Formats: sequence, C-alpha cells, structure tokens
Amino acid sequence: MPEAVPIRRPRQVTQSALLGEVKGLVYEAGGKRLIDAVDLNIPDDSRTIVMGPNGAGKSLLLRLMHGLLKPRAGRIVWNGRELDSRVRLEQAMVFQRPVLLRRSVAANLRFALKLRGRPADDEIDRLLEEVDLTAQANQPARLLSGGEQQRLALARALATRPRVLFLDEPTASLDPNATAAIETIVQRAHERGTKILFVTHNLGQARRLADDVVFMNQGRIEEHTPADEFFDQPKSQAAIDFLDDCLVSH
Ligand SMILES: Nc1ncnc2c1ncn2[C@@H]1O[C@H](COP(=O)(O)OP(=O)(O)O)[C@@H](O)[C@H]1O
Ligand SMILES: [Mg+2]
Repeated sequence: MPEAVPIRRPRQVTQSALLGEVKGLVYEAGGKRLIDAVDLNIPDDSRTIVMGPNGAGKSLLLRLMHGLLKPRAGRIVWNGRELDSRVRLEQAMVFQRPVLLRRSVAANLRFALKLRGRPADDEIDRLLEEVDLTAQANQPARLLSGGEQQRLALARALATRPRVLFLDEPTASLDPNATAAIETIVQRAHERGTKILFVTHNLGQARRLADDVVFMNQGRIEEHTPADEFFDQPKSQAAIDFLDDCLVSH
C-alpha cells in the first residue's frame, strides 16, 4: 500500500467550530464604500478582538454583524441562520458610552429583563452581584461613576444571557482599575459560553483578552489570525505600522 499522504487542512484561526460567517459584506454611506467586501469566519468559543486604526470600519462592522445597520450587499449568518430579529435577541452590545435609563440601577436591569419576558427579582440580584453593584442597587444610574455605569451596561447586556456579546471600545473612557473590572466580567461571560467580539485600541487589553485578532484597515480585513501570531508576526504593513504606533503611544 502506498504511504498515506497527509491531508493538508486549510489553516484555521482556532480549532473550534464556526459560529458565524460574514460573506461579501458591503456598507456604503455618503457616497463612500466604508465596508468593502468583507469576509469573516467567526469561531465559536473564542474571544475575537477587532483592532485597526481610527476610521478603519471596526464600529460599522460590529453594528452590521449585530443587525443595527443594513448592509448594501452580503450575508451574515449566525449558527446557520440568517441574521434577523430573532437572531438579534440572542445577542447584545455594549458601547463606549453607556446609555442608561434615568432610573435606579435595579430599575435599569428590571426594564431589560422585562423586555425579554424574564422574571426579574432573583435575576436582578444575581446580575448586580455579578458586576459588583449590589450596594448601588437603589441609586440613580446617572450618579454612578463611569466604571460603574459601564458595569451596569454590561449587566444589562448579560441579562439576556446572550450567545454573542459585542463590545465596542467599552473601556476607552475608563481608568485601569475600572478597565480591569470590565475585563473580568467579560472573561466570566466568555467562560460561561458567550462568544466575545471586542473592539479595542488598547494593545495591553488586546494581549490580555484575545484568542484571535481581526485587523481592519480602510474598510477591509487585512488579517485574521490567532492572537500570538498577530502580535509576534503581523503580516500586513498596515498592521506592523499600527502595532508600532500602539507601542509609541502607550
Ligand atoms: N453614516 C456615515 N456616513 C458617512 N461616513 C460614515 C458614516 N458612518 C461612519 N462613517 C465613516 O466610516 C469610516 C469607518 O467608521 P467606523 O466604523 O466608526 O471606524 P472605527 O474603525 O474607528 O470604528 C470612518 O471614516 C467614518 O467617518
Ligand atoms: Mg469605532
């Protein structure tokens, strides 16, 4: 018998199965193509960090993947299903600046839970504990510190037990302690099985959190590789320049 020829498998970003797929995604506004024919395989079970210079299209890509914007062309599939309002209910998103109701901390969570028809009281206590806001439960949300507000926004996002959590620079306005608290909560959510898609400018944060890195530039994905590979051997000149800039500016 001839010797078996080893099967060459296509290189995968991680060994895990795919959770989502983006194909030929195009978004245009103001006469410009801002997301330019993007393809992306989204591994399950990983923390995918999205990096790239300002204006690269990171926020647009996240909004498109969560269905907050309608693409001009292309497909977005999650778990074999086209992105629609039902799929969106299984996802949540946290932004740089939390938008909270002018009510108490607990009332913000109660509102989020009721929207999804979930029983509130036990859940509220559990969520408050999870983000260390039990003592602030009855305070007006708008009086919280920036870090506390963001923890509340995260609790609200997690209230729906999302399959996918999108985070768009959630710690960009926060100090290192508040940032660490957010990272811990995100990490715990990931350990419980929530897929993480996280945009950050912060190289240290990317190194702490990333399993795989999507690097965007000018509306395109330049690379999508395992994190170590991205940080140690970025392939595109744009990524090399970006990482150099990060080192200089931090
Ligand atoms: N509605 C819009 N109309 C015109 N240009 C837009 C619109 N939204 C975003 N842009 C532009 O698209 C580019 C990508 O934006 P964005 O995704 O926010 O970048 P970032 O990578 O910094 O998050 C930027 O140049 C931004 O100015
Ligand atoms: Mg952005």
